[in-house]
Amino acid sequence: MLDTLITEFDRGLRTLFAPAHSARPHPDHQVAEAELSQEEKQHALGLMRVNHCGEVCAQALYQGQALTARDPAAREALRHAAFEEVEHLAWTEQRIRELGGRPSLFNPLWYTGSLAIGVAAGMLGDKWNLGFLEETEHQVGAHLQSHLSELPSQDARSRAIVAQMHEDELKHADMAHAFGAAKLPAPVRGMMKLSARLMTSTSYRA
Ligand SMILES: [Fe+2]
Ligand SMILES: [Fe+2]
Repeated sequence: MLDTLITEFDRGLRTLFAPAHSARPHPDHQVAEAELSQEEKQHALGLMRVNHCGEVCAQALYQGQALTARDPAAREALRHAAFEEVEHLAWTEQRIRELGGRPSLFNPLWYTGSLAIGVAAGMLGDKWNLGFLEETEHQVGAHLQSHLSELPSQDARSRAIVAQMHEDELKHADMAHAFGAAKLPAPVRGMMKLSARLMTSTSYRA
């Protein structure tokens, strides 16, 4: 148990403070940089910072859930999703730097909250744990879809990243469903949307 805690603590520190690596090539690696006005750049930066913060939260959620998942298959599914989320972390982080910014100052706060939620979801049992994963991925997917219409149309690099993430998140949702995810009650889904709104409005600005 102590070993697990130390490993997870280490993983948390790395998520927050070390650069993430991607096994796949970054989706924008062959996409040319576009000409952006200062305003467009700021807007794209804010949106990519929100996406980065979302990936930090995903790390914490899946980490918390994997800690408490009972079924080895469910644990494996969570680990696999978490692995791709690290890639998302790497892509958004690099894009933030290219746009001349830095990740959100609030990341440690959201990380801690998400870890607690992940552990709580995990303790409810695997079908709720997976239900939570599926709902999270659906909400993130819808969110990324909205960013595709909000990002400056010529910012093809950011758009390539968001489009690939969107595709990955839907796969994660399907995977959770296939492993027997339960449908979360509407009030829980509503609460999740509310906290996501709070997260997006704070990380867009700083
Ligand atoms: Fe992701
Ligand atoms: Fe995901």
